[in-house]
Amino acid sequence: MPIFFVDNHVGKPGAPCTHWQLLKGRCEYLLRLLGLQVKNVGIVFVGDNEMQEYNRQYRHQDKPTNVLAFPASFPGEIADELSDLGDIFISVDTALREAKGAHCTLHERLTRLIIHGVLHLAGWDHERSEEEALRMWDEEQCLFQKLIEKKERKMPQLAINVDHVATVRQARGTVEPDPVLAAGICELAGAQGIVVHLREDRRHIQDRDVLLLRETVKTKLNLEMAVADAIVQFAMKIKPDMVTLVPEKRQELTTEGGLDVVKNQKKIGKVISKMKAAGIPVSLFIDADAVQIEAAAEVGATFVELHTGRYCDALSEQVQDSEFLLIQNSVELALESGLRVNAGHGLDYRNAARIADLVGIEELSIGHAIISRAVFVGLDQAVREMLQLIRQAA
Ligand code: PXP
Repeated sequence: MPIFFVDNHVGKPGAPCTHWQLLKGRCEYLLRLLGLQVKNVGIVFVGDNEMQEYNRQYRHQDKPTNVLAFPASFPGEIADELSDLGDIFISVDTALREAKGAHCTLHERLTRLIIHGVLHLAGWDHERSEEEALRMWDEEQCLFQKLIEKKERKMPQLAINVDHVATVRQARGTVEPDPVLAAGICELAGAQGIVVHLREDRRHIQDRDVLLLRETVKTKLNLEMAVADAIVQFAMKIKPDMVTLVPEKRQELTTEGGLDVVKNQKKIGKVISKMKAAGIPVSLFIDADAVQIEAAAEVGATFVELHTGRYCDALSEQVQDSEFLLIQNSVELALESGLRVNAGHGLDYRNAARIADLVGIEELSIGHAIISRAVFVGLDQAVREMLQLIRQAA
């Protein structure tokens, strides 16, 4: 069932990130649901200016619109005999505005517009009568539900990174504060997981911490680590509940960017195979980027942890909104690719709620904000406040 995508819009400055693979998959499924899988459909994505031109030329309306459908058959012609169903033009600018207004993702909005356009190509017309308009609306709802299986809303779990407790300890080279004790307090306050990053330079967390945590953590121990032989051996020995592979640079203050899975596919693939053989699920810490998500799925990761740093560090509402949109779309794409999704980095008491509200994220990994707040209100309260915030958001 050839579906031809023409992208006259995405790629322009300011264009949103669009995951063609995801939309193409939905289109193919839509045609199958309608029994039209043998037909050719062209879908052209344009901007508002181009759309206004078509709307003026073909419908005598001098304004942009969201979708226009051009059936291949002329009225009266037998459409069944044609291999082409027709073409749909969609304005991504309008779809983006509508998505914002409806608080849905761009892909959800584009999916609805594709359904609407394909129904027109298949002969439906809401302008023919009120009754047909209602039936077409019902059909659209029904198809949309089938295409986007309703994901069950679950509250994301809170996994607390206790590296910073170890940082304070290492500043004096003594034995306190102990990250192992901190992890226990976090769990008693309701945290559903503990995260530590055993760095190659042993800047904060030490081998002893991970060994003890393996014995004491009752919830879930997530070991963050670089793709480095010695650490891989260590992880295989102590068997955490999962590992998260992160990039590591000697001079960085904290993990800076996501892993480049595309560039390091072979090395990462080898670690994943070893961990899988040892029964340890692997998460890849990556930027909210379609190419990295596809590579993560290809290389056999179980989870991705989406890097929320750029969203958290955004200096303007506009930049924060566009970073949020990237994360929102990436959650969707990762789930469609069969990956499970976590998120983290830079999340605090002001910015975490919006991420916690995203359906499909299983776990938020938060460290610095909680440990910082704990200095003033105590660790137990700092954890409870974050849990309350996540509960309210989700
Ligand atoms: N996720 C990963 C992969 C990280 O490297 C870190 C920082 O150690 C975090 C989450 C937590 O980030 P933050 O300390 O900013 O909450």
